[in-house]
Amino acid sequence: MKVLLIGSGGREHALAWKIAQSPLLTTLYAAPGNPGIATVAENLSLAVEDHDAVVAFSHDNAIDLVVVGPEAPLVAGLADALRAAGIAVFGPSASAARLEGSKGFTKDLCARYSIPTGAYRRFTEQAPALAYLDSVGAPIVVKADGLAAGKGVTVAMTLDEAKAAVRDCFAGSFGAAGAEVVIEAFLDGEEASFFCLCDGETALPFGSAQDHKRVGDGDTGANTGGMGAYSPAPIMSEAMVERTMEEIIRPTIRGMAADGHPFTGVLFAGLMITDKGPELIEYNVRFGDPECQVLMMRLESDLLPILHATATGTLDRVTATWRDETALAVVLASKGYPGSFETFTPIRALPENSAESRIFHAGTALRDGQLVATGGRVLNVTGIGADPASAQKAAYAAVDQVAWDNGFCRRDIGWRALTRA
Ligand code: AMP
Ligand code: GLY
Repeated sequence: MKVLLIGSGGREHALAWKIAQSPLLTTLYAAPGNPGIATVAENLSLAVEDHDAVVAFSHDNAIDLVVVGPEAPLVAGLADALRAAGIAVFGPSASAARLEGSKGFTKDLCARYSIPTGAYRRFTEQAPALAYLDSVGAPIVVKADGLAAGKGVTVAMTLDEAKAAVRDCFAGSFGAAGAEVVIEAFLDGEEASFFCLCDGETALPFGSAQDHKRVGDGDTGANTGGMGAYSPAPIMSEAMVERTMEEIIRPTIRGMAADGHPFTGVLFAGLMITDKGPELIEYNVRFGDPECQVLMMRLESDLLPILHATATGTLDRVTATWRDETALAVVLASKGYPGSFETFTPIRALPENSAESRIFHAGTALRDGQLVATGGRVLNVTGIGADPASAQKAAYAAVDQVAWDNGFCRRDIGWRALTRA
């Protein structure tokens, strides 16, 4: 099978690493890829925004499956263009990608199909939004409707904070993404990420994880794209997974199909496990980053036939098996992230990959033969072990062998799982 992988992050390096192990694979291309991905794939300088170019490349090279990593090309309709040209693609259509692209769309779907989520209202004007805040009080959550690079959400503990967030959105802080605002009830509980593959009809549970969104130890400081993750999330017991499938995932899949936009690809549910059970915070229409890295470390099955089955409506014919171990990823980021940071700082040494640990590249590049950091989140150092403590030990042992002066990481990834044990 010839595969084209779209993306350049740690998530895509983990997918590439796993796909490359498949006996079914003949050639793996990545666009644009990164230096880590280049060790298992041929990186292409293909403009991913140019859908015609991606379709033409796929045709000319007899690509059997395109795997789309990030959300932006999905929301932009890359999967539609490929499907229209008869090319199998892992990833949803633009209309199904609205589950991530529009929070209002998802909330309306939840309301129509009785999917548990925080009570909400949608607003396109400031005055009624402020009046609504006065009527409901704090704590309350204010969200820009569209994609805002993870920055459009304010969990407001006071009414003043909530009002400031509404004013910010309507003042254009998030551009078009903030032209509509969703105000949502505050949910109290423990968060978990749950993944499920869908081929439009069949849904296959595909693991759980917990992310660490704050930049600092002890979950302090600014929100980021994720500073570390581990899998499985202990709170996602078999019973909790079944409840989530029954109350949230299956109604979503049925609803999306009934509404005329069947969902194919990976559905990533951000959950709050409250006193009442699992409630939906948000959907993403792609794998989490760095959650994907820990899932791939634990996946025993060959990934490629599973992705292909998802893309071709035959998911009922495959199963997934997992290592009964914990995987844990520590993100090494450029000093200053998530604010401004220096780029092209040299990474002088990386540890060898081993049975216990593995490095996935995110924001790296090669410059005159020297590995350099080009992004905010740069390396994902991943460990695996019998329990959270040994996975954490393996990950940090590898972290300590990275020679990169401008890098930093949290030192407490996995704390929740460790305090639980
Ligand atoms: P989102 O971008 O929707 O994932 O939101 C970012 C973070 O805000 C989530 O991971 C939660 O920690 C928090 N959050 C979002 N919605 C709620 C809610 N209704 N109640 C409590 N926390 C929330
Ligand atoms: N790590 C969170 C995300 O990928 O959305």
